Amino acid sequence: MKQPILVTGGAGYIGSHTCKALAAQGFTPVTLDNLSTGHRDFVQWGPLIQGDIADAALVKQVVQELRPLAVIHFAGLIAVGESVVNPAAYYRNNVVGSFHLFETLREAGVDKVVFSSTAACYGNPGITPITESCALLPINPYGCTKLAMEQLLQAYDPAYGVRSVIFRYFNACGADPEAQIGEAHEPETHLIPLALDVVLGRRPQLTINGQDYPTADGTCIRDYIHVLDLAEAHVLAVRHLLAGGASLACNLGQGQGHSVSEVANMVELVTKQPLTRSFGPRRPGDPPALVAAADLARSSLGFAAKHSSLDEIIATAWAWHQKRFG
Ligand code: UFG
Repeated sequence: MKQPILVTGGAGYIGSHTCKALAAQGFTPVTLDNLSTGHRDFVQWGPLIQGDIADAALVKQVVQELRPLAVIHFAGLIAVGESVVNPAAYYRNNVVGSFHLFETLREAGVDKVVFSSTAACYGNPGITPITESCALLPINPYGCTKLAMEQLLQAYDPAYGVRSVIFRYFNACGADPEAQIGEAHEPETHLIPLALDVVLGRRPQLTINGQDYPTADGTCIRDYIHVLDLAEAHVLAVRHLLAGGASLACNLGQGQGHSVSEVANMVELVTKQPLTRSFGPRRPGDPPALVAAADLARSSLGFAAKHSSLDEIIATAWAWHQKRFG
């Protein structure tokens, strides 16, 4: 097999786009996914092994047969609200499961890891833009579980020589420009797919969570980054580790924010249809603004977001959404 990369969670949203990008650049992505939230039909650019990251015997066998150049670890639970209601599931999957995976990899001599973390590790920093030197003070169990694994990886480098690139994603969005894959969470909680659902008539209206934030139009500001750009960053991270690059933890955002109302307006512009919306109360735990400082990914990996204008994000998401749900 040519340049195998083991991709846990390769049947998920960011994982599948990364598999496509890896394949386009000569790697063979091998997906390990238990399909609890992933989609079998998203695995199109390499084999699928259906199984759990915590299954040490399976991971050991896969790694021995595959001899991957590196591992990209996406598999995990990602819903902030759900993590507050059911923290045990988050600790079981994101901490215990990841620990077993990392231990099995270490025992098998796999020493290059790219890890999916989150801007939720910063909690509510109240600083714009957020640099990697900001305090890591997550305010929900989801962020806590990701931070715990960041800390594990940071300890594994000096102790065991396992090098890692940790990515703190801001708001992943958009879809494959060929609409082969895209965003499809169940249940859906993210702004853009929910808004597109309303346009398609699958939901009655979009409720904007709060209009009294200290921002220009009163709605929350987020850093929306196209999933194609995220995928490209993962390929750069693999190349960085293969070239002997040092461990690193960096933000993945575009460095610019948009408000919820701006996103809603762009949905109307791109779809050429009205978006029925109303204002509701603030959503608990939502910081007013989360915008990444994007300099470290640029200087250390040569990363630049190329597809993250709001119109390209919505246009690709809309094409995918109509194909999948229309
Ligand atoms: N929003 C609405 N109405 C909705 C859904 C969302 O107004 O029906 C608002 C939210 O309140 C928020 C913004 O749209 O202000 C974006 O919300 P999302 O749920 O799409 O995304 P989040 O910013 O809450 O969270 C995402 C990821 C997290 C990650 C975070 C980092 O889901 O894992 O980005 O910025 F930590």
